[in-house]
Amino acid sequence: MIKIEGVRKVFNGVTVLDHIDLKVEKGEVVSILGSSGSGKSTLLRCINGLEKLDGGSISVDGFDVARPKELAEARKRSATVFQLFNLYPHMTAVQNLMLAPVEVLKVPKAKAEADARALLASVGLSERADAYPAQLSGGQRQRVGIARALAVNPSYLLLDEVTSALDPEMTAEVLRILARLADEGTTMVFVTHEVEFARTISSRVVFLEKGRLLVDLPTTEFFADDGGLANPRVRQFLSNMSKG
Ligand SMILES: Nc1ncnc2c1ncn2[C@@H]1O[C@H](COP(=O)(O)OP(=O)(O)O)[C@@H](O)[C@H]1O
Ligand SMILES: [Mg+2]
Repeated sequence: MIKIEGVRKVFNGVTVLDHIDLKVEKGEVVSILGSSGSGKSTLLRCINGLEKLDGGSISVDGFDVARPKELAEARKRSATVFQLFNLYPHMTAVQNLMLAPVEVLKVPKAKAEADARALLASVGLSERADAYPAQLSGGQRQRVGIARALAVNPSYLLLDEVTSALDPEMTAEVLRILARLADEGTTMVFVTHEVEFARTISSRVVFLEKGRLLVDLPTTEFFADDGGLANPRVRQFLSNMSKG
């Protein structure tokens, strides 16, 4: 389980996460919605131990991300795909996927390469396995990013607006893969502006505003008039989204 309790984060005197409580159990797909600047990316960065907490605690399968000795264990269990492609430009797709298994998990190179090629095939990229990131389209790069996150066999996959830099066709390619992962039972925390997609794949929807977690409901309740939609802030957000 990812357990977030009373988390506070302050940047330059401004509270950007304010007493956040959130639990993600294995098998759940949790979507995080909220306007730009509401703290979604910061929350994912805190789960990774990339930001120091100013209050509260976060643990991943019981490993406290604030304790240096436990952070490595926590990080082995969760993998993040970021908004902007962050592949290593000097490595091919297959080399990008092999890096963490070989360097961190000490998987033998031959096995890591076979696993990497199989994962790339599973995201429709067997033919592009030996291409460098610059030779790939945005959608292909983001699919490599997802495959690279899966290469460490994480218990939790964290996704930060992975389609926001993509055109509609490439977005569809990537969402298809995420839908399949959700079907297969991959636990995901999914920050997105794709509200309709969130609605179809999530078991729960969380709404952040100005660093506060305003709503946390099972998906059908979130989108019900007497559930999440009864919150005027949620209603306004969804109506702004549907206007594009
Ligand atoms: N490294 C940083 N230094 C200062 N302020 C930051 C930093 N990262 C994020 N912020 C601020 O924290 C708030 C939340 O940002 P962010 O988590 O990126 O929101 P979201 O992902 O929901 O758009 C914003 O006001 C942003 O400007
Ligand atoms: Mg963000």
